[in-house]
Amino acid sequence: MDHSLANEPGGAMVAYRGAILHFRDDPRHADDSAVAYFDDGLLVVQTGRVVACGEYRETLARMPGGIEVHDHRGHLIVPGFVDTHIHFAQTDIIASYGKNVLDWLERHTFPAERRFSDNGHAAEVAEFAVDEMLRNGTTSSMVFATVHKGATEAVFRAAESRGVSMIAGKVLMDRNCPEGLCEAVEKGTAESRELILKWHKKPGTRLRYAVTPRFAPTSSERQLAEAGRLLDEFPDVHLQTHLAENTEECRWVRELFPWSRSYLDVYDRFGLVGPNSVFAHCIHLDAQDRAAMAANGCAISFCPTSNLFLGSGLFDADAAQAAGLPVGIGTDVGGGTSFSVIRTLHEAHKVLQLRGQHLDAMRGFYLATLGGARALGLDGEVGNFETGKYADFVLLDKSSTPLIARRMQQAASLDELLFAAMMLGEEHMVAATFAQGRCVYRQCE
Ligand code: GUN
Ligand code: ZN
Repeated sequence: MDHSLANEPGGAMVAYRGAILHFRDDPRHADDSAVAYFDDGLLVVQTGRVVACGEYRETLARMPGGIEVHDHRGHLIVPGFVDTHIHFAQTDIIASYGKNVLDWLERHTFPAERRFSDNGHAAEVAEFAVDEMLRNGTTSSMVFATVHKGATEAVFRAAESRGVSMIAGKVLMDRNCPEGLCEAVEKGTAESRELILKWHKKPGTRLRYAVTPRFAPTSSERQLAEAGRLLDEFPDVHLQTHLAENTEECRWVRELFPWSRSYLDVYDRFGLVGPNSVFAHCIHLDAQDRAAMAANGCAISFCPTSNLFLGSGLFDADAAQAAGLPVGIGTDVGGGTSFSVIRTLHEAHKVLQLRGQHLDAMRGFYLATLGGARALGLDGEVGNFETGKYADFVLLDKSSTPLIARRMQQAASLDELLFAAMMLGEEHMVAATFAQGRCVYRQCE
């Protein structure tokens, strides 16, 4: 681990030299100025924040003399990845077969989540899952816990001790789930409120709370209404849930809420469709849903690995884009089969190929960083190397395997190199991960 004082008050200025890539904007909307790339770049960090980022010589010349420079030439330095949808408590059932999401929930997920009534188990899995995110370069995330207050606290503690950004919430369920996970509405609301008061924007941390109804089928109308009231009471708290993932699930929602125009309409009726709301999957939407989501400032978590694994369907990224909806990348572990946001980009590319759409590498790395930060409303703090943001970054090893090294040598352009990284890379490409300028993961240690 790096024991520099870069994160301490008044700490030393430390710089990292290497190829640097980050984004000022969405490369699809903007001109070339959206992409900032320095073949020989310098990222300067002090007290956990970015002080400067630019071309090596020019940036170093602007800094005080004697500054410590770590030489990472051969590595690509990118902002820490943003995972916009993950279930930490599903770590142990990753890669478990289910016919579809509903079958998989019954067979594997609910039994696994029941074990989180045990605080010791919850703490052990939370520590492992957050470390696994760091091994994969993820420094900001939006996380489902379970219905257990203790398990929710466990994941907040794991994020707090590692100095990363996390938006997390206790799952709300009061029907259509097994004993041990089904809770009275009042208990779910009261514990959510206690957790908000304790953890949301806790001073000295980067933690935020998300009200977390699992999905419409496992909440009564009364519970959804209570979730809406919590958002009224705490307007800067987030909301996360699942939306329109699978056709059978959509049919079930129509049966349970016969008055609804659409699945989204159920959430809308109870005040859950707002500017801090992130909806995972969003495969089976119509144009009216997308327009309503965009008008209300919602964001989508695109979870391609999970969508392929569970056979849920192919996300329509172009329709989301045309509606002006912010999209981030979600691993959706354990419906997704990898903690790697890079690996998830690889699957995103394949999903979009099957739709006749495309994802070039620049846009992919944008979605994995600034795009994800924007989707979660964290772009004032993370997502790129603007001065003042948290110094969260990843060192990507361009020769992490013999094949990658060989392929990279053939790359004639930055686009080609990044595309090969997107298709071949996963956790082995992450040589080290830094959060607030502090090394929180390094390979071979
Ligand atoms: N829908 C409701 N719960 C879940 C879950 O845990 N994972 C996925 N992928 N979809 C869900
Ligand atoms: Zn999910």
